[in-house]
Amino acid sequence: MPATARPAAEAARRRTFAIISHPDAGKTTLTEALLLAGGAIHLAGEVRARGQARRTRSDWMKIERERGISVSASVMTFESDGKVFNLLDTPGHEDFSEDTYRTLTAADSAVMVLDAAKGIEPRPLKLFEVCRLRDIPIVTFINKMDREAQDPFALLDEIHDKLALDPAPLYWPAGSGQRFAGMLDLNRREFLRFSRPSADEPVLARAERLPMGGNSVSEALSEELLAELNEGADLARGVLSPFDGEAFRAGHLTPVVFGAALRRFGVAELLSVIAAESPSPRPQNARIDGADVAVDAGREEVSGFVFKVQANMDPKHRDRVAFLRLCSGRFVRGMTLKTAAGKAMNIHNPLMFLAQDREITDEAFPGDVIGAPNHGVLRVGDSLSESGKISFQGIPNFAPEILKRCRVKDPLKQKHLRRALEALAEEGVTQTFRPTIGADMIIGAVGALQFDVLEERVATEYGLDVVFEPSPYQAARWISADAKSEVDAFIAKYGSQIAEDIDGAPVFLGKSAWEIGYVQEKNPAIRFTAVKERAA
Ligand code: G4P
Repeated sequence: MPATARPAAEAARRRTFAIISHPDAGKTTLTEALLLAGGAIHLAGEVRARGQARRTRSDWMKIERERGISVSASVMTFESDGKVFNLLDTPGHEDFSEDTYRTLTAADSAVMVLDAAKGIEPRPLKLFEVCRLRDIPIVTFINKMDREAQDPFALLDEIHDKLALDPAPLYWPAGSGQRFAGMLDLNRREFLRFSRPSADEPVLARAERLPMGGNSVSEALSEELLAELNEGADLARGVLSPFDGEAFRAGHLTPVVFGAALRRFGVAELLSVIAAESPSPRPQNARIDGADVAVDAGREEVSGFVFKVQANMDPKHRDRVAFLRLCSGRFVRGMTLKTAAGKAMNIHNPLMFLAQDREITDEAFPGDVIGAPNHGVLRVGDSLSESGKISFQGIPNFAPEILKRCRVKDPLKQKHLRRALEALAEEGVTQTFRPTIGADMIIGAVGALQFDVLEERVATEYGLDVVFEPSPYQAARWISADAKSEVDAFIAKYGSQIAEDIDGAPVFLGKSAWEIGYVQEKNPAIRFTAVKERAA
């Protein structure tokens, strides 16, 4: 077999996806149900229980324990029906953070979980924008059908109106709440019966399928509910888009599955849709020797990029684990990979994160995520490859939505503070802006929790007591123009509101979103961008 055949074949059976949802829509429950449906775990409650055990065992960041949340995203790998699923876990708390955004850059597709009673809530909307930016296709799971739900047409209309995505239901529900009886497979004309098992009954991995028109369906559904189902399904077929795999993978259409994650209903069906329709690792845009190249999964050379760095997994060793999303080749334990900046790293203990535990792996393929323990050598956005020549594009930085001034209580420690803030910005904890005028650094984040994480880490790792103070700014935009002279002229004019980011790129700090719009209108030659795609 040629050396590239295996990575290509292995990549083809990988599905690397993330779940996006609003808190309480059921992401944790669905994750657990997916792991169960995929045969990766056998007992309900293991995801939660294990999370707690791990936190107490390895003494994760205090803030995680205090708030009972997982600040950082991780990955769970499981194999089912010949497919390898890498489920990237996005943090489950109320707050947004850049971590969540960046996790999506490592995913090839996403599952959007909606609470059937609530429809689209703010958080998936925001994460959806990131998916759109990256052309990430989305499968929709309408959860909690065993509770009183909104009308399915109203839910699908909302997807259409708010996300500008064509919803294509693959199933149609029969009732909701107490009346919920199951759903009709719109393609196969089979009815998936929902049953409410009592506490000591095992939950079925797959729902029972009854042929429509048969006696068993009329026994399972009241006459009224059956008529309602037929009417709804006919109308859905008539007015809604039929499923189209191409349109889904191009990000224009979302297949919709209904279910109840808590009752494991609809979950195996969701997994089948991901297996059959969601994309396997796609070619990734990169620069090699000054040329734009799409790095295909089947490329022989091993390559990948770091989308997340987790510190303090074990405080005794002060280790950091860089999460590397592989993009091409067959990775073998002990390989030496180089960053585009020329740093070489031997990865002798690559971690894989199986549903049950993490363990050292001997090989990995495109779409997989491996954890590379290191002592701060790797930072978010780094590309790694055998030649060191591949530089992946597009680990985005998002314009911060909260800007604060950061001051260290001991004025003699100003330099230390600067170093700490820069190191943590490199890791992607928060963003740091150095104003061209004035000494105080400005810290930017997309979520308030990032400040708590920063404060905690600056205190424990650098021994510095810091305070955050309000800054006069509320928005930041990267600025650029076709001609450098235009940027220079703009900087000269707005000097007091200009800062540099960690890479030295110029940023305009606005006192309000309105001001940004105003300044933008006055300076049409300048581009103001809310997302900076950093070449890795
Ligand atoms: P999240 O990670 O998105 O924040 O949500 P999570 O899975 O924790 O679910 C939020 C709540 O919704 C949980 O209830 C969970 O049991 C419930 N839930 C999830 N899926 C379903 C479903 O399909 N049907 C019904 N009826 N409920 C569902 P909780 O009372 O807040 O937590 P817990 O005490 O049950 O753990």
